[in-house]
Amino acid sequence: MSQNVVNKEVEVSEEEVDDLVKWLPNAVLLGNDRQIFNYKGFWCERYFLKSTLKSQRNFIAKDTDVIIGGLQKTGTTWLKSLLFSVVERVNHPVNQSLLLNHNPHALVHGLETHIYADQTDYLNLNLTHLGEPRLLSTHLPYALIPDSIRVSKAKIVYITRHPLDMLVSQYYFTLSIMKKKTTEEDDFIPPPIQDFFDDFCLGKYPFGPYFDHVVEFWKISIAQPEKVLFLKYEDLKSDPVKNLKRLAEFIGMPFSSKEETEGVITQIINLCSFKNLKELEVNKNGVVINDLLDKKSFFRNGQVGDWSNHFTPLMVEKMDIIMQHKFKGTGLSFNLLPQQL
Ligand code: A3P
Repeated sequence: MSQNVVNKEVEVSEEEVDDLVKWLPNAVLLGNDRQIFNYKGFWCERYFLKSTLKSQRNFIAKDTDVIIGGLQKTGTTWLKSLLFSVVERVNHPVNQSLLLNHNPHALVHGLETHIYADQTDYLNLNLTHLGEPRLLSTHLPYALIPDSIRVSKAKIVYITRHPLDMLVSQYYFTLSIMKKKTTEEDDFIPPPIQDFFDDFCLGKYPFGPYFDHVVEFWKISIAQPEKVLFLKYEDLKSDPVKNLKRLAEFIGMPFSSKEETEGVITQIINLCSFKNLKELEVNKNGVVINDLLDKKSFFRNGQVGDWSNHFTPLMVEKMDIIMQHKFKGTGLSFNLLPQQL
């Protein structure tokens, strides 16, 4: 397979995207007033539709690639840090990790969010220098990822999270973007979280519906365990050691007994802990991903069960019913009550 990640020759024109969106069902995400389109069953903004098409037409996976998958706000920044540390431990011991002076998103690039996004400076993103395994990421559903990922032996590590915690996280993340866009004179009035909840219940979430996204990856992780490793944020929180070992084994870079004895696993977990990453100077200021997003907005409170502070009992009950219905027969579940988590 080709060594090139980016093939600049296959473009997607604005006209083509305009023509496409004319025919797609569309809706508005009430919470942030953005127009989204339903492409092959999944919702995304026009901007991401274009970068998705570009990714599909240009990305050529290598058998050794490791792709981090997962919807926004499910813990992808954390997973990037952990996997980067696992892969890079050969080159950099933990105390010299590039994470100490780079935001995780500057080290692991997203296909549709970065590499094939419009603002990206292709010259700076010529990733051919990346050693193997190449670590990349995507928020795309399995049905929309580039074919070469599916047909190659590239591996996918997928992360998901309790939908209510994901929603709380998305709520505050979106508020931070909205505030950034607001001029100082304007009085910023945050939309209610109920708007986000209502959208979610209708399947409207970036690259959602959430349940379709999650269940599809879950099923593949069962049918092809060598292809997809399925992780829950909550499990990573409650047993990081076990899950870090699983990650390393899955990508074919297991920890040796010498490394275990020397404490490398604990060192990586500590380096990538929420508190440590949040406190690093490099993650406190500045922007990342095409200069659009504040680095600090990726580190809020990193808790499990924060949803219990945000939703009414009626909303929680509604979500419970939806979850039971959507996960029925899949073997997949989340504990709903925070005390059970
Ligand atoms: P909260 O908003 O609930 O705090 P993503 O990285 O997919 O955008 O997800 C962001 C969520 O992951 C945020 O959740 C963020 O605080 C949390 N997070 C970021 N780094 C983390 C880490 N090292 N450990 C645990 N959670 C982390």
